[in-house]
Amino acid sequence: MRSALVSLLFLGLFKYVVTEGGFCSAPSVVGLESNSNPLYLKVDNPTLSPMHLKDLPGFTRSVYRRDHALISPESHVYGPLPDWINTSGAYLIAPQMGSHFVMYLAKLQEKSKSGLPPHDVERFIFVLRGAVTLTTDTSNRHTLKVDTYAYLPPNYNHIIECDASATIVVFERRYAHLENHVPELIVNSTDLQPLLETPGEVFELRKLLPTSLAYDFNIHIMDFQPGEFLNVKEVHYNQHGLLLLEGQGIYRLGDNWYPVQAGDVIWMAPFVPQWYAALGKTRTRYLLYKDVNRNPL
Ligand SMILES: *[C@@H]1O[C@H](CO)[C@@H](O)[C@H](O)[C@H]1NC(C)=O
Ligand SMILES: *[C@@H]1O[C@H](CO)[C@@H](O)[C@H](O)[C@H]1NC(C)=O
Repeated sequence: MRSALVSLLFLGLFKYVVTEGGFCSAPSVVGLESNSNPLYLKVDNPTLSPMHLKDLPGFTRSVYRRDHALISPESHVYGPLPDWINTSGAYLIAPQMGSHFVMYLAKLQEKSKSGLPPHDVERFIFVLRGAVTLTTDTSNRHTLKVDTYAYLPPNYNHIIECDASATIVVFERRYAHLENHVPELIVNSTDLQPLLETPGEVFELRKLLPTSLAYDFNIHIMDFQPGEFLNVKEVHYNQHGLLLLEGQGIYRLGDNWYPVQAGDVIWMAPFVPQWYAALGKTRTRYLLYKDVNRNPL
């Protein structure tokens, strides 16, 4: 009798929290399931592990192999970013593992400021949470919000600043020069990029950078509805750095099948067999670095 009363009370309370979520002071868990979430919320607020494994000491989904790595959020290690002010960063892909680029998450705090990449290194930034201001040489100022991005050519003077707090993902690579081709500053947003043809595939593809020869890499945004998967079991010379922005699914890397979800980072070395299937209840969106437009020799 008493337990029935307690459950009734609990149900009542639950209903209250759900319906009055915006009013209560601590309903953040409820908010996670609603449709009014900020875009890419899960990248910054990942599910650290399945509920029953949450507190299991030593448990991680992360793996590091010769030709691929999965780095799930419980393994991300943040520290001060060299040359940046009031910013902590986690290098998740770096040449130490075999890549020719770095990929890191940067958390900008109040009054933060970026440092410049090394000489001849190009930079791509994409905003995951909050907003940053990008100031370039020509004293042009851009406000970059969630889902907007910028490409900074090598040796291009710029400052990324933040008044409040923001999270961005950054890619940097030593630029591979090509005679008579010069990359330019690009500031734009994902939703303004057209959907591209993907013959034989069902996923939706957008490219964030021009496909012209001046650019030695591109960043793809790929969307899969639950149940959709890659047709081609890809094996290619290009390398990838992937950040899962939304959703869940299974990534095949070599002979391994990994359950993955928003917040996970994947490194794919050249020629590692790769395949993805989207599962769960919501669409998968991921952001993918790919080197392009250069002779592998
Ligand atoms: C970092 O931010 C604080 C305010 O939160 C500011 O007082 C401080 O000067 C900043 N640090 C640097 C090195 O600018
Ligand atoms: C943003 O991208 C779209 C599509 O590629 C393009 O038409 C537009 O000119 C770009 N905007 C800026 C400010 O470059």
